[in-house]
Amino acid sequence: MKLFLDSANLEEIREVASWGVLDGVTTNPSLCSKETVTFEDNIRAICAVCPGPVSAECVSLRAADIVVEARALAGIAPNIAVKIPVCLEGLKATKTLHGEGIAVNMTLVFSSGQALLAAKAGARFVSPFIGRLDDVSEDGMALIEEIVQIFENFRFETEVIVASVRHPRHVIEAALLGADIATVPYGVMEKLVKHPLTDIGIERFLADWRKVKT
Ligand code: G3P
Repeated sequence: MKLFLDSANLEEIREVASWGVLDGVTTNPSLCSKETVTFEDNIRAICAVCPGPVSAECVSLRAADIVVEARALAGIAPNIAVKIPVCLEGLKATKTLHGEGIAVNMTLVFSSGQALLAAKAGARFVSPFIGRLDDVSEDGMALIEEIVQIFENFRFETEVIVASVRHPRHVIEAALLGADIATVPYGVMEKLVKHPLTDIGIERFLADWRKVKT
């Protein structure tokens, strides 16, 4: 399973890259709004740190405008995946961009029907937002199960990015279901590695090591 970092913060991205676990990065307008550098400079810097796919989101709403914006984003670096919200105009743009060899990550996916259409239009990735579904008392992970099954049934090459991840269990359940990728916020990435028994174990070993004759 690939792990992406859901962040536009260069320090966080550098840190996770140094752990040897970073396969890609996803950004969105909300994440980019927290950064002080300009959008394009930030995306370029992220692409230099992370050789895997880096998602940068289009904000245009008409297909023709999305295509123009996406081409410009894709020109920033060879590892850009353009993020496009799933909607009719977004599907039209995806079809065109797929034809040009530009990787599209269809985002804001909340149903398996949306994921199916995104895959058929040529999206390289789909991003179902599971945390936001859980927030409204729906079952985000059930959506992942459906999409993974549908893509397997018809051998779609589109990869499933489990997005809107809130806690480590989301990542584990996504892995058990065979989702290709989870995009994980920095805080959840840290929680994945931490365990109180590991901390206690390290303390005990260090205390006992002090008693060892060397
Ligand atoms: O990158 C998109 C997605 O992961 C957003 O998550 O926490 O804003 O629902 P969240």
